[in-house]
Amino acid sequence: MRYLIAANWKMNKTVAESVEYIEKFKPMVEDIHQVDIMIAPSFTALSSVSLELNNTKIKLGAQNMYHVDRGAFTGEISPIMLKELNVEYVILGHSERRHIFGEKDELINKKVISALEYGIRPIVCVGETLEERELGITLNVVERQIKMAFAGVYPDIGLCDIAYEPVWAIGTGKNATKEQAQEVHHFIRTLINELSKGNDETTRILYGGSVNENNAKDLISQKNVDGFLVGTASLDPEKFYKIITHS
Ligand code: G3P
Repeated sequence: MRYLIAANWKMNKTVAESVEYIEKFKPMVEDIHQVDIMIAPSFTALSSVSLELNNTKIKLGAQNMYHVDRGAFTGEISPIMLKELNVEYVILGHSERRHIFGEKDELINKKVISALEYGIRPIVCVGETLEERELGITLNVVERQIKMAFAGVYPDIGLCDIAYEPVWAIGTGKNATKEQAQEVHHFIRTLINELSKGNDETTRILYGGSVNENNAKDLISQKNVDGFLVGTASLDPEKFYKIITHS
């Protein structure tokens, strides 16, 4: 399986800063062929970054989308708008979307279905809060999130990637241990095998949550860790490059 190392820049970097980053980053990864690399900039920078990534192997991602193609949805971005900019991936159900903006499993499911219809590969984020981990219900939470996100499209799970991002590890500098990550990733692999009956072979299970250039090697050594979704450390091209080379 080809690993995916993805950058989620979140609400960081202006257009000028994004372009400056890409111009520096492009030559650094020119000779990297063994993994897929994806960058998800802010919506305002998507167009410029798209032009910058033309004729490179670096894939373009969006951090979110709405599931309807056009209409009276103030402030939203549609799949056709993303397609126009050659966006190949879309991050859906990120914990910040769930917890800050109140996105529910049902809405995430509509977005997954829509992204699949438009040929944009969803990266569906799942993960437990600290409270849920302490209650011992991590696997139940992840199971519910996955079953609901893919409801109605289980056979297409192979066209999607899943990111396990424990909420307590996001932006905290406190990553899951490799054992904690492997336990949940193994559970996810088994679950999607059951749901999609063998169509899961191309689903990468990414780990996200305080991944950096120092812990990447250890985490990627785990059998079911197929890549990363990196926040903070991806904002620095040198650090992101190191994570890629350690994977
Ligand atoms: O989507 C990536 C993410 O939520 C992890 O963020 O800053 O902990 O790497 P960070």
